[in-house]
Amino acid sequence: MNLSFAKPDDAIRPIHILDETAAPDWLKKQPQAVQDWVTTHDFKGALGQALLLPNDAGAVIGYGNEQTRARGRFHLAAGAAKLPAGTYTLVSDLDADTLATEALGWLLAKYRFDRYKDQPPMRAHLIAPDGINATQIEAIANGEALSRTLINTPASDMGPPDLEQAARDLASTFEAEVSVILGDDLLEQNFPMIHTVGRAADRAPRLIDMTWGTTGPKLTLVGKGVCFDTGGLNLKPGASMGLMKKDMGGSAAVLGLAHMIMATGVPVQLRVLIPAVENSVSGNAFRPQDILTSRKGLTVEINNTDAEGRLVLADALALADEDNPDLIISMATLTGAARVAVGPDLAPYYADDASLVAALEAAALTSADPVWRMPFHAPYESMIEPGIADLDNAPKGGFAGSITAALFLRRFVEQSRYMHFDIYGWQPTAAAARPKGGVGQGTRTLFAALPDMLNL
Ligand code: BES
Ligand code: MN
Ligand code: ZN
Repeated sequence: MNLSFAKPDDAIRPIHILDETAAPDWLKKQPQAVQDWVTTHDFKGALGQALLLPNDAGAVIGYGNEQTRARGRFHLAAGAAKLPAGTYTLVSDLDADTLATEALGWLLAKYRFDRYKDQPPMRAHLIAPDGINATQIEAIANGEALSRTLINTPASDMGPPDLEQAARDLASTFEAEVSVILGDDLLEQNFPMIHTVGRAADRAPRLIDMTWGTTGPKLTLVGKGVCFDTGGLNLKPGASMGLMKKDMGGSAAVLGLAHMIMATGVPVQLRVLIPAVENSVSGNAFRPQDILTSRKGLTVEINNTDAEGRLVLADALALADEDNPDLIISMATLTGAARVAVGPDLAPYYADDASLVAALEAAALTSADPVWRMPFHAPYESMIEPGIADLDNAPKGGFAGSITAALFLRRFVEQSRYMHFDIYGWQPTAAAARPKGGVGQGTRTLFAALPDMLNL
Protein backbone atom coordinates (compact mmCIF):
# COMPACT_ATOMS: atom_id res chain seq x y z
CA MET A 1 0.00 0.00 0.00
CA ASN A 2 1.35 3.42 -0.90
CA LEU A 3 -0.42 6.38 0.65
CA SER A 4 0.35 9.55 -1.29
CA PHE A 5 -0.93 12.95 -2.30
CA ALA A 6 -2.50 13.50 -5.73
CA LYS A 7 -0.59 14.97 -8.67
CA PRO A 8 -2.28 18.12 -9.95
CA ASP A 9 -4.55 17.40 -12.92
CA ASP A 10 -6.96 19.65 -14.76
CA ALA A 11 -10.04 18.92 -12.69
CA ILE A 12 -9.16 20.03 -9.19
CA ARG A 13 -12.04 20.83 -6.89
CA PRO A 14 -11.58 23.31 -4.06
CA ILE A 15 -12.80 22.19 -0.64
CA HIS A 16 -14.00 24.90 1.70
CA ILE A 17 -13.38 23.91 5.30
CA LEU A 18 -16.19 25.42 7.33
CA ASP A 19 -16.73 25.20 11.05
CA GLU A 20 -20.18 25.68 12.52
CA THR A 21 -19.65 29.41 13.03
CA ALA A 22 -18.16 30.10 9.62
CA ALA A 23 -20.66 28.02 7.66
CA PRO A 24 -23.65 30.45 7.78
CA ASP A 25 -21.50 33.49 6.89
CA TRP A 26 -19.89 31.69 4.00
CA LEU A 27 -23.24 30.50 2.76
CA LYS A 28 -24.73 34.00 2.59
CA LYS A 29 -22.07 34.99 0.10
CA GLN A 30 -22.74 32.12 -2.29
CA PRO A 31 -24.89 32.16 -5.42
CA GLN A 32 -28.53 31.25 -4.80
CA ALA A 33 -28.17 27.81 -6.41
CA VAL A 34 -25.37 26.91 -3.99
CA GLN A 35 -27.31 28.30 -1.01
CA ASP A 36 -30.35 26.20 -1.91
CA TRP A 37 -28.27 23.08 -2.43
CA VAL A 38 -26.41 23.42 0.87
CA THR A 39 -29.63 24.12 2.78
CA THR A 40 -31.42 21.22 1.15
CA HIS A 41 -28.63 18.89 2.20
CA ASP A 42 -28.69 20.28 5.72
CA PHE A 43 -24.97 21.06 5.72
CA LYS A 44 -24.22 23.05 8.86
CA GLY A 45 -20.50 22.54 9.25
CA ALA A 46 -20.68 19.63 11.70
CA LEU A 47 -17.63 17.37 11.91
CA GLY A 48 -17.81 14.60 9.37
CA GLN A 49 -20.24 16.42 7.06
CA ALA A 50 -19.17 16.73 3.44
CA LEU A 51 -20.99 17.88 0.35
CA LEU A 52 -20.12 18.29 -3.28
CA LEU A 53 -21.44 21.63 -4.56
CA PRO A 54 -23.28 22.25 -7.84
CA ASN A 55 -21.90 24.15 -10.83
CA ASP A 56 -18.26 23.14 -10.30
CA ALA A 57 -18.18 25.15 -7.10
CA GLY A 58 -16.12 22.49 -5.36
CA ALA A 59 -17.06 20.95 -2.05
CA VAL A 60 -17.51 21.78 1.62
CA ILE A 61 -16.35 19.80 4.64
CA GLY A 62 -17.59 20.54 8.14
CA TYR A 63 -15.05 21.44 10.81
CA GLY A 64 -17.40 21.26 13.80
CA ASN A 65 -16.57 23.30 16.86
CA GLU A 66 -13.93 23.23 19.58
CA GLN A 67 -15.82 20.70 21.69
CA THR A 68 -16.45 18.22 18.91
CA ARG A 69 -12.90 18.59 17.61
CA ALA A 70 -11.53 17.91 21.09
CA ARG A 71 -13.12 14.47 20.92
CA GLY A 72 -11.12 13.36 17.90
CA ARG A 73 -7.83 13.81 16.11
CA PHE A 74 -8.31 14.10 12.37
CA HIS A 75 -11.19 16.37 11.56
CA LEU A 76 -11.32 16.29 7.77
CA ALA A 77 -10.84 12.58 7.28
CA ALA A 78 -14.41 11.44 7.96
CA GLY A 79 -15.82 14.03 5.55
CA ALA A 80 -13.16 13.33 2.95
CA ALA A 81 -14.07 9.66 2.94
CA LYS A 82 -17.62 10.61 1.93
CA LEU A 83 -16.65 12.74 -1.07
CA PRO A 84 -17.09 11.40 -4.60
CA ALA A 85 -14.14 10.44 -6.76
CA GLY A 86 -11.95 13.36 -7.71
CA THR A 87 -8.91 15.44 -6.93
CA TYR A 88 -9.34 18.09 -4.28
CA THR A 89 -7.44 21.02 -2.86
CA LEU A 90 -8.01 22.65 0.54
CA VAL A 91 -9.18 26.25 0.92
CA SER A 92 -8.86 27.36 4.53
CA ASP A 93 -7.10 29.65 6.93
CA LEU A 94 -5.90 26.82 9.15
CA ASP A 95 -2.33 27.18 10.42
CA ALA A 96 0.42 25.05 8.90
CA ASP A 97 0.63 22.53 11.78
CA THR A 98 -3.10 21.92 11.66
CA LEU A 99 -3.12 21.62 7.89
CA ALA A 100 -0.30 19.10 8.08
CA THR A 101 -2.28 17.02 10.59
CA GLU A 102 -5.43 17.16 8.47
CA ALA A 103 -3.50 16.22 5.35
CA LEU A 104 -2.02 13.27 7.23
CA GLY A 105 -5.52 12.29 8.36
CA TRP A 106 -6.66 12.31 4.75
CA LEU A 107 -3.89 9.93 3.75
CA LEU A 108 -4.54 7.68 6.75
CA ALA A 109 -8.22 7.53 5.82
CA LYS A 110 -7.09 5.84 2.59
CA TYR A 111 -5.56 2.95 4.50
CA ARG A 112 -7.15 -0.41 3.72
CA PHE A 113 -6.34 -3.89 4.99
CA ASP A 114 -7.17 -5.83 1.84
CA ARG A 115 -4.91 -8.86 1.94
CA TYR A 116 -7.78 -11.29 2.38
CA LYS A 117 -10.71 -9.42 0.83
CA ASP A 118 -10.95 -6.52 -1.59
CA GLN A 119 -12.00 -3.32 0.14
CA PRO A 120 -13.49 -0.39 -1.76
CA PRO A 121 -10.83 2.33 -1.91
CA MET A 122 -11.39 5.93 -0.97
CA ARG A 123 -11.72 7.83 -4.22
CA ALA A 124 -11.21 11.41 -3.09
CA HIS A 125 -7.59 12.42 -3.56
CA LEU A 126 -5.90 15.42 -2.01
CA ILE A 127 -3.34 17.78 -3.51
CA ALA A 128 -0.70 18.43 -0.86
CA PRO A 129 -1.58 21.78 0.73
CA ASP A 130 0.94 24.61 0.27
CA GLY A 131 3.35 25.10 3.11
CA ILE A 132 3.38 21.53 4.40
CA ASN A 133 6.18 19.00 4.00
CA ALA A 134 4.43 16.51 1.73
CA THR A 135 7.27 13.99 1.63
CA GLN A 136 7.43 13.93 5.40
CA ILE A 137 3.68 13.42 5.73
CA GLU A 138 3.69 10.62 3.19
CA ALA A 139 6.53 8.96 5.09
CA ILE A 140 4.55 9.18 8.33
CA ALA A 141 1.41 7.82 6.66
CA ASN A 142 3.23 4.91 5.09
CA GLY A 143 5.07 4.10 8.32
CA GLU A 144 1.72 4.01 10.08
CA ALA A 145 0.22 1.87 7.31
CA LEU A 146 3.06 -0.61 7.76
CA SER A 147 2.39 -0.83 11.51
CA ARG A 148 -1.31 -1.39 10.91
CA THR A 149 -0.85 -4.10 8.31
CA LEU A 150 1.70 -6.01 10.36
CA ILE A 151 -0.68 -6.06 13.32
CA ASN A 152 -3.76 -6.85 11.25
CA THR A 153 -2.14 -9.83 9.58
CA PRO A 154 -3.10 -12.87 11.65
CA ALA A 155 -0.54 -15.13 13.25
CA SER A 156 -1.12 -17.75 10.56
CA ASP A 157 0.65 -15.38 8.16
CA MET A 158 2.64 -13.33 10.66
CA GLY A 159 4.74 -15.78 12.62
CA PRO A 160 8.37 -15.16 13.56
CA PRO A 161 9.62 -16.01 10.03
CA ASP A 162 7.08 -13.61 8.48
CA LEU A 163 8.01 -10.85 10.89
CA GLU A 164 11.63 -11.44 9.92
CA GLN A 165 10.63 -11.17 6.26
CA ALA A 166 8.77 -7.93 6.94
CA ALA A 167 11.93 -6.48 8.49
CA ARG A 168 13.96 -7.69 5.50
CA ASP A 169 11.49 -6.12 3.07
CA LEU A 170 11.65 -2.80 4.89
CA ALA A 171 15.44 -3.00 5.02
CA SER A 172 15.75 -3.65 1.31
CA THR A 173 13.64 -0.57 0.52
CA PHE A 174 16.07 1.65 2.39
CA GLU A 175 19.31 -0.30 2.03
CA ALA A 176 19.46 -1.24 5.67
CA GLU A 177 21.20 -4.38 6.95
CA VAL A 178 19.46 -7.24 8.68
CA SER A 179 20.98 -10.06 10.64
CA VAL A 180 18.96 -12.70 12.42
CA ILE A 181 20.02 -14.86 15.31
CA LEU A 182 18.24 -18.14 15.11
CA GLY A 183 18.65 -21.79 15.92
CA ASP A 184 18.65 -23.73 19.13
CA ASP A 185 22.36 -23.41 19.87
CA LEU A 186 23.02 -19.81 18.94
CA LEU A 187 19.85 -18.41 20.41
CA GLU A 188 19.91 -20.55 23.52
CA GLN A 189 23.46 -19.54 24.37
CA ASN A 190 23.19 -15.85 23.60
CA PHE A 191 19.56 -14.97 24.20
CA PRO A 192 18.35 -17.64 26.58
CA MET A 193 15.07 -16.00 27.54
CA ILE A 194 14.05 -15.40 23.92
CA HIS A 195 14.76 -19.04 23.25
CA THR A 196 12.92 -20.23 26.34
CA VAL A 197 9.75 -18.30 25.59
CA GLY A 198 9.71 -19.28 21.92
CA ARG A 199 10.88 -22.87 21.99
CA ALA A 200 7.45 -24.50 22.35
CA ALA A 201 6.29 -23.17 18.98
CA ASP A 202 6.79 -24.89 15.64
CA ARG A 203 8.02 -21.68 14.10
CA ALA A 204 11.43 -20.99 15.60
CA PRO A 205 12.10 -18.01 17.87
CA ARG A 206 14.68 -15.49 16.67
CA LEU A 207 16.22 -12.09 17.26
CA ILE A 208 15.94 -9.71 14.32
CA ASP A 209 18.64 -7.04 14.20
CA MET A 210 18.31 -4.28 11.60
CA THR A 211 20.79 -1.41 11.22
CA TRP A 212 20.75 1.67 9.04
CA GLY A 213 22.77 4.89 8.83
CA THR A 214 26.47 5.45 9.45
CA THR A 215 26.65 8.86 11.12
CA GLY A 216 24.88 10.72 13.88
CA PRO A 217 23.71 9.65 17.31
CA LYS A 218 22.89 6.03 17.94
CA LEU A 219 19.21 5.27 18.37
CA THR A 220 18.11 1.73 19.20
CA LEU A 221 14.46 0.69 19.00
CA VAL A 222 13.37 -2.55 20.64
CA GLY A 223 9.93 -3.95 19.78
CA LYS A 224 8.03 -6.84 21.33
CA GLY A 225 7.47 -9.38 18.60
CA VAL A 226 5.21 -11.96 20.22
CA CYS A 227 3.44 -13.11 17.08
CA PHE A 228 0.79 -14.84 19.12
CA ASP A 229 0.39 -14.93 22.88
CA THR A 230 -1.54 -17.95 24.12
CA GLY A 231 -0.22 -17.26 27.60
CA GLY A 232 1.81 -20.47 27.47
CA LEU A 233 1.09 -23.07 30.19
CA ASN A 234 -0.66 -20.28 32.10
CA LEU A 235 -3.07 -20.39 29.21
CA LYS A 236 -5.16 -17.31 28.59
CA PRO A 237 -8.93 -17.79 28.67
CA GLY A 238 -10.58 -17.45 25.27
CA ALA A 239 -11.75 -13.90 25.67
CA SER A 240 -8.26 -12.71 26.61
CA MET A 241 -6.58 -14.66 23.82
CA GLY A 242 -8.92 -13.36 21.15
CA LEU A 243 -6.83 -10.35 20.12
CA MET A 244 -3.39 -11.76 20.71
CA LYS A 245 -2.30 -11.60 17.07
CA LYS A 246 -1.59 -8.01 18.02
CA ASP A 247 1.04 -8.99 20.58
CA MET A 248 3.72 -8.08 18.04
CA GLY A 249 2.31 -4.53 18.12
CA GLY A 250 5.52 -3.16 19.62
CA SER A 251 7.58 -4.54 16.77
CA ALA A 252 5.01 -3.20 14.29
CA ALA A 253 5.35 0.21 15.93
CA VAL A 254 9.14 0.26 15.82
CA LEU A 255 9.19 -0.92 12.20
CA GLY A 256 6.68 1.83 11.33
CA LEU A 257 8.84 4.38 13.12
CA ALA A 258 11.93 3.01 11.37
CA HIS A 259 10.13 3.51 8.05
CA MET A 260 9.50 7.17 8.93
CA ILE A 261 13.13 7.67 9.97
CA MET A 262 14.65 6.02 6.91
CA ALA A 263 12.20 7.47 4.36
CA THR A 264 13.00 10.99 5.54
CA GLY A 265 16.70 10.38 6.07
CA VAL A 266 16.92 11.32 9.74
CA PRO A 267 20.67 11.55 10.46
CA VAL A 268 20.96 8.81 13.07
CA GLN A 269 22.58 5.42 13.39
CA LEU A 270 19.45 3.38 13.73
CA ARG A 271 19.23 -0.11 15.15
CA VAL A 272 15.99 -2.05 15.43
CA LEU A 273 15.91 -5.17 17.61
CA ILE A 274 12.93 -7.48 17.53
CA PRO A 275 12.70 -10.64 19.59
CA ALA A 276 10.23 -12.61 17.47
CA VAL A 277 8.52 -15.57 19.14
CA GLU A 278 5.22 -17.31 19.62
CA ASN A 279 4.26 -17.92 23.23
CA SER A 280 2.87 -21.38 22.70
CA VAL A 281 1.96 -24.58 24.54
CA SER A 282 3.83 -27.84 24.14
CA GLY A 283 5.66 -30.52 26.12
CA ASN A 284 8.81 -28.42 26.06
CA ALA A 285 7.10 -25.17 27.04
CA PHE A 286 8.68 -23.25 29.94
CA ARG A 287 6.90 -23.65 33.27
CA PRO A 288 5.87 -21.64 36.29
CA GLN A 289 8.70 -21.67 38.86
CA ASP A 290 11.38 -22.31 36.26
CA ILE A 291 14.34 -20.04 36.91
CA LEU A 292 15.94 -18.60 33.79
CA THR A 293 19.35 -17.03 33.46
CA SER A 294 19.14 -14.05 31.17
CA ARG A 295 21.73 -12.80 28.67
CA LYS A 296 22.73 -10.17 31.20
CA GLY A 297 23.24 -12.84 33.88
CA LEU A 298 20.30 -11.81 36.04
CA THR A 299 18.19 -14.79 37.08
CA VAL A 300 14.42 -14.66 36.65
CA GLU A 301 11.84 -16.76 38.43
CA ILE A 302 8.86 -17.45 36.21
CA ASN A 303 5.68 -16.99 38.16
CA ASN A 304 3.45 -16.70 35.13
CA THR A 305 4.30 -17.87 31.62
CA ASP A 306 1.92 -15.21 30.35
CA ALA A 307 4.34 -12.47 31.43
CA GLU A 308 6.51 -13.43 28.45
CA GLY A 309 6.99 -10.04 26.81
CA ARG A 310 9.35 -8.71 29.46
CA LEU A 311 11.48 -11.86 29.17
CA VAL A 312 12.13 -11.61 25.45
CA LEU A 313 12.55 -7.84 25.65
CA ALA A 314 15.02 -8.15 28.51
CA ASP A 315 17.52 -10.12 26.44
CA ALA A 316 17.11 -7.74 23.48
CA LEU A 317 17.51 -4.71 25.77
CA ALA A 318 20.67 -6.21 27.26
CA LEU A 319 22.14 -6.48 23.77
CA ALA A 320 21.02 -2.94 22.93
CA ASP A 321 22.69 -1.58 26.05
CA GLU A 322 26.02 -3.34 25.34
CA ASP A 323 26.44 -1.04 22.36
CA ASN A 324 25.93 2.05 24.55
CA PRO A 325 23.60 3.95 22.21
CA ASP A 326 22.52 7.53 22.88
CA LEU A 327 18.94 6.42 23.35
CA ILE A 328 17.08 3.13 23.67
CA ILE A 329 13.31 3.05 23.17
CA SER A 330 11.29 -0.10 23.76
CA MET A 331 7.71 -0.47 22.57
CA ALA A 332 5.51 -3.36 23.60
CA THR A 333 1.95 -4.53 24.15
CA LEU A 334 3.30 -5.48 27.52
CA THR A 335 0.50 -5.45 30.08
CA GLY A 336 -3.26 -5.54 30.38
CA ALA A 337 -2.74 -3.14 33.29
CA ALA A 338 -1.69 -0.35 30.90
CA ARG A 339 -4.92 -0.81 28.98
CA VAL A 340 -6.91 -0.66 32.21
CA ALA A 341 -5.08 2.49 33.31
CA VAL A 342 -5.35 4.64 30.18
CA GLY A 343 -7.48 2.77 27.64
CA PRO A 344 -6.71 2.27 23.97
CA ASP A 345 -6.36 5.92 22.96
CA LEU A 346 -3.27 6.98 24.90
CA ALA A 347 0.25 5.61 24.66
CA PRO A 348 1.63 5.25 28.20
CA TYR A 349 5.38 5.74 28.43
CA TYR A 350 8.15 5.69 30.99
CA ALA A 351 11.26 7.88 31.01
CA ASP A 352 13.56 9.12 33.73
CA ASP A 353 15.28 11.82 31.72
CA ALA A 354 13.46 15.16 31.99
CA SER A 355 14.74 16.39 28.63
CA LEU A 356 13.32 13.33 26.90
CA VAL A 357 9.99 13.90 28.59
CA ALA A 358 9.92 17.58 27.63
CA ALA A 359 10.74 16.78 24.00
CA LEU A 360 8.09 14.10 23.83
CA GLU A 361 5.35 16.16 25.47
CA ALA A 362 6.05 19.10 23.16
CA ALA A 363 5.96 16.87 20.08
CA ALA A 364 2.71 15.26 21.18
CA LEU A 365 0.88 18.57 20.93
CA THR A 366 1.05 18.59 17.14
CA SER A 367 1.31 14.89 16.28
CA ALA A 368 -2.27 13.63 16.73
CA ASP A 369 -0.73 10.83 18.77
CA PRO A 370 -1.28 11.44 22.47
CA VAL A 371 1.09 9.99 25.06
CA TRP A 372 0.84 9.78 28.83
CA ARG A 373 3.76 9.63 31.24
CA MET A 374 3.87 6.86 33.81
CA PRO A 375 6.39 6.56 36.67
CA PHE A 376 9.40 4.27 37.02
CA HIS A 377 8.45 4.23 40.70
CA ALA A 378 11.52 2.95 42.55
CA PRO A 379 9.66 1.98 45.78
CA TYR A 380 8.01 -0.79 43.76
CA GLU A 381 11.36 -2.37 42.87
CA SER A 382 10.95 -4.80 45.75
CA MET A 383 7.80 -6.16 44.12
CA ILE A 384 9.85 -7.70 41.30
CA GLU A 385 12.33 -9.39 43.66
CA PRO A 386 11.18 -12.91 44.53
CA GLY A 387 14.01 -13.88 46.90
CA ILE A 388 15.23 -17.07 45.27
CA ALA A 389 16.21 -15.33 42.03
CA ASP A 390 17.15 -11.78 41.07
CA LEU A 391 13.82 -11.04 39.46
CA ASP A 392 10.20 -12.20 39.39
CA ASN A 393 8.46 -11.95 36.03
CA ALA A 394 4.96 -11.77 37.51
CA PRO A 395 4.64 -10.22 40.96
CA LYS A 396 1.74 -11.47 43.03
CA GLY A 397 -1.11 -9.16 43.85
CA GLY A 398 -1.12 -7.45 40.51
CA PHE A 399 -0.58 -3.97 41.92
CA ALA A 400 0.80 -1.48 39.40
CA GLY A 401 1.21 -4.12 36.72
CA SER A 402 2.43 -1.78 34.00
CA ILE A 403 4.90 -0.08 36.35
CA THR A 404 6.41 -3.31 37.66
CA ALA A 405 6.82 -4.54 34.07
CA ALA A 406 8.60 -1.29 33.19
CA LEU A 407 10.84 -1.58 36.25
CA PHE A 408 11.68 -5.13 35.20
CA LEU A 409 12.80 -3.92 31.77
CA ARG A 410 14.82 -1.07 33.24
CA ARG A 411 16.99 -3.58 35.10
CA PHE A 412 18.43 -4.57 31.73
CA VAL A 413 19.45 -1.07 30.64
CA GLU A 414 22.35 0.36 32.61
CA GLN A 415 24.33 2.71 30.40
CA SER A 416 21.89 4.29 28.02
CA ARG A 417 19.12 6.84 28.24
CA TYR A 418 15.96 4.79 28.14
CA MET A 419 12.32 5.23 27.29
CA HIS A 420 9.65 2.53 27.28
CA PHE A 421 6.13 2.47 25.80
CA ASP A 422 3.46 0.02 27.04
CA ILE A 423 1.05 0.37 24.12
CA TYR A 424 -2.24 -1.29 23.21
CA GLY A 425 -1.72 -1.29 19.44
CA TRP A 426 -5.35 -1.73 18.55
CA GLN A 427 -8.21 0.57 17.65
CA PRO A 428 -11.29 -1.16 19.13
CA THR A 429 -13.91 0.97 17.34
CA ALA A 430 -13.44 2.84 14.09
CA ALA A 431 -12.69 6.57 14.31
CA ALA A 432 -11.83 9.09 11.60
CA ALA A 433 -8.68 7.93 9.78
CA ARG A 434 -8.37 5.08 12.28
CA PRO A 435 -10.32 2.01 11.22
CA LYS A 436 -10.93 -0.76 13.70
CA GLY A 437 -7.81 -2.89 13.89
CA GLY A 438 -4.08 -2.54 14.30
CA VAL A 439 -2.75 0.93 14.95
CA GLY A 440 0.59 2.56 15.62
CA GLN A 441 0.87 4.37 18.95
CA GLY A 442 3.55 6.76 20.11
CA THR A 443 5.34 6.53 16.79
CA ARG A 444 4.33 9.86 15.26
CA THR A 445 5.06 11.69 18.48
CA LEU A 446 8.42 9.96 18.80
CA PHE A 447 9.24 10.76 15.20
CA ALA A 448 8.46 14.43 15.78
CA ALA A 449 10.44 14.45 19.04
CA LEU A 450 13.60 12.80 17.69
CA PRO A 451 15.43 15.99 16.62
CA ASP A 452 14.97 17.38 20.12
CA MET A 453 15.71 14.14 21.95
CA LEU A 454 18.91 13.52 20.00
CA ASN A 455 20.01 17.14 19.38
CA LEU A 456 19.87 16.71 15.62
N1 BES B 1 0.37 -9.48 25.81
C1 BES B 1 -0.05 -9.45 27.15
C2 BES B 1 -0.51 -8.08 27.61
C3 BES B 1 -1.75 -7.51 27.02
C4 BES B 1 -2.98 -8.10 27.27
C5 BES B 1 -1.69 -6.36 26.30
C6 BES B 1 -4.11 -7.54 26.75
C7 BES B 1 -2.81 -5.78 25.78
C8 BES B 1 -4.03 -6.40 26.01
C9 BES B 1 1.09 -9.86 28.08
O1 BES B 1 1.96 -10.79 27.56
C10 BES B 1 0.46 -10.43 29.30
O2 BES B 1 -0.21 -11.41 29.18
N2 BES B 1 0.67 -9.79 30.44
C11 BES B 1 0.10 -10.22 31.67
C12 BES B 1 1.17 -10.12 32.73
C13 BES B 1 0.78 -10.73 34.04
C14 BES B 1 0.65 -12.23 33.90
C15 BES B 1 1.83 -10.39 35.07
C16 BES B 1 -1.07 -9.30 32.00
O3 BES B 1 -0.97 -8.10 31.75
O4 BES B 1 -2.07 -9.81 32.45
MN1 MN C 1 1.35 -12.77 27.85
ZN1 ZN D 1 2.17 -10.85 25.54
